[in-house]
Amino acid sequence: MKFITANFDQYDGKDIQAYIGLDGFSGLKKAIEMGPLATIEEVKESGLQGRGGAEYPTGRKIEQARIEKAERKFVICNADEGEPGTFKDRELIKKDIYQLIEGMIIVAYCANANEGVIYCREEYDWMHEHICTSILKCKEMGYLGDNILDTGFSFEISLFSGAGSYVCGEGFAMCESMEGKSGRPRSKPPYVKQEGYLNYPTLVINVETLSAITAIMKFGTSNFTDLGTPDCPGTKVISISGKVNKPGVYEVPFGKTLEEIIALAEGVKGDKRIGFVQIGGASGGILPESALKTQFTYRELKSKQVSVGSGAIVVADEDDNILDYLENVGQFFIHESCGKCVPCREGNRQLEILLGKFKHKTATIDDVKMYKDILDMMSEASLCGSGRTEPVPFKTAFTYFEDAFALGGSHEIL
Ligand SMILES: Cc1cc2nc3c(=O)[nH]c(=O)nc-3n(C[C@H](O)[C@H](O)[C@H](O)COP(=O)(O)O)c2cc1C
Ligand code: SF4
Repeated sequence: MKFITANFDQYDGKDIQAYIGLDGFSGLKKAIEMGPLATIEEVKESGLQGRGGAEYPTGRKIEQARIEKAERKFVICNADEGEPGTFKDRELIKKDIYQLIEGMIIVAYCANANEGVIYCREEYDWMHEHICTSILKCKEMGYLGDNILDTGFSFEISLFSGAGSYVCGEGFAMCESMEGKSGRPRSKPPYVKQEGYLNYPTLVINVETLSAITAIMKFGTSNFTDLGTPDCPGTKVISISGKVNKPGVYEVPFGKTLEEIIALAEGVKGDKRIGFVQIGGASGGILPESALKTQFTYRELKSKQVSVGSGAIVVADEDDNILDYLENVGQFFIHESCGKCVPCREGNRQLEILLGKFKHKTATIDDVKMYKDILDMMSEASLCGSGRTEPVPFKTAFTYFEDAFALGGSHEIL
């Protein structure tokens, strides 16, 4: 299935003339022909939802950005991709960066923004030259800079490298880091779209979302909505990793079952059974093998307490221990918590202690109660999406693998 990844391996990802030869910038030209308002309607019609994890409707987001009036307005492409197990944005940048830049120009044109930034994670520094060269080529060809394609619209893009922090993928933390401060989220409201980078209206949008906008404008909304399911149209670019034979990036139409998607990665190594899968990144839900007939759609996954998130699927085999896995996830969050709010900063440390008790079978009924209370407190009282979603793997593991949470000295299960 190739819609967003249609250009993969069709050109070297660097040659702008080859990109143009593949009908590149026809999406932008169509947007200009239609005008900003009709283009926004087109994106709304496509049903596209943000691919960075928050799943916010993209058309509505651009519309809201357009309404903001200010001297300066920013479009920031979120290429932080700090979610473990997620590496699809890297491929979209590496293999088809012009599609991404074209998407940024379309969004900026619709939102009336003149300044763009690609916020790239530090670990992708090997792609910086590729990004900068591609921006310059677009400028040379008149797709960036002043008076783009004689429209009177001007737009520039620069590159900003993060310093290697997961939380900087959150909109406000990203703005803070670009302003030279520690990357920590701000309280809301006001929202990033109102007072983001340098306190100007800022539209933060994911690499895949931008790439999808270009593809939708190029191939047409109906070709996108024909894919997927009626309530969850289109395709999703998914990164599959873990104990599979062929880890990688796969584009799939929504509606496939998890089992079918994992089969694309040629099944589990060593002919073992699947033990469990984590969906959507480190803060994603964990499902047992018995749930693999679940369809990959926003609604179906939600019914299992899981979300599409960043589109990562990490597969564990039958020998993997769920508590070891959770400990690993917890270590990531302890390391990455920015420390600004108590529920996330302290909650993660308390979870680590409780997981140790479950592992050593010394947990009491009070510990189970504490485990649940801490998770609820983190979901409800954390300042940003990191602390609010971190409990998901811990909660879903408790729901689907209750045997692992047996109490000390007995097999009593709550
Ligand atoms: C802790 C944290 C990390 C995040 N990391 C990313 C990221 O690496 N990439 C991304 O696109 N969105 C990330 N997000 C979501 C962004 O805040 C934002 O919702 C997204 O970039 C908006 O783009 P979209 O509407 O295209 O999804 C993160 C959110 C949180 C709370
Ligand atoms: S939830 Fe965690 S990452 Fe977010 S502000 Fe609080 S401490 Fe920082």
